[in-house]
Amino acid sequence: MSLLNKIKLDNCPQHIAIIMDGNGRWAKQHGEVRLFGHSSGVEAVREVLKGCVDLGVKHLTLYAFSTENWNRPKEEVDGLMNLMVETIANEVDELNSNSVRLRSIGDESKLPEACRNELNAAKKETLKNDKLDLILALNYSARWEILNATQNIARKVEKDEIKASDIDEKLFESELTLSDVPDPELLIRTSGEYRLSNFLLWQIAYAELYFTDKLWPDFEREDLFEAVLNYQNRERRFGLVSEQLVK
Ligand code: IPE
Ligand code: IPE
Ligand code: MG
Repeated sequence: MSLLNKIKLDNCPQHIAIIMDGNGRWAKQHGEVRLFGHSSGVEAVREVLKGCVDLGVKHLTLYAFSTENWNRPKEEVDGLMNLMVETIANEVDELNSNSVRLRSIGDESKLPEACRNELNAAKKETLKNDKLDLILALNYSARWEILNATQNIARKVEKDEIKASDIDEKLFESELTLSDVPDPELLIRTSGEYRLSNFLLWQIAYAELYFTDKLWPDFEREDLFEAVLNYQNRERRFGLVSEQLVK
């Protein structure tokens, strides 16, 4: 029986963020090159997307390529960029049929032109979809995003558009890329690593963290449901004591 039946659909996260990790180790276990692991990870993305549609999740943010990942061997970086172009082009119809809108966060300007073009075309083609936002973090790092926001705010102060004392959480958030999206309530990382690797550091201040040993290409819809069930069994206190929470 699917774990979906045990999930309370009225208490699902609105936004799930995932650090998709373990493709390289998965490939090694299968006696293949690392790139084979990355291409096998695409199926896990499809699984998770389907799962989010089942649950009515509104936003799914996937960490696909970090600013630090440029330092990997050139062959792997090139292969990952080609895979991105191919996958985005191949999946547009499927995204449209599930009413999924494609978005991205990160410094796109450094991506290869083909990748940028494909991404922008797919964003345009899926713009009107409103069931689920699929947000790809591409050439993303949280420190980059926070510095970017800080620079934008500093420029406004320089131009006397705002005062330093106007800077509060709301104003700061308005300069972040996902300012129109609620913070993720649930962050999942696969592959048994217990770190955040520069992902959404501002937005996950109060996210529930879920770690699994499964390697990303093995992650299936039921694994997503397991993570959401685990989330639903936690008490989110936000600094209060248990008795203060409305049950
Ligand atoms: C995650 O898998 C995908 C990216 C970082 C692009 P890895 O490639 O990091 O796989 P491992 O961690 O080496 O197994
Ligand atoms: C984080 O995974 C980045 C992505 C999943 C895209 P990494 O494999 O690059 O992170 P580290 O090196 O283990 O921290
Ligand atoms: Mg890794």
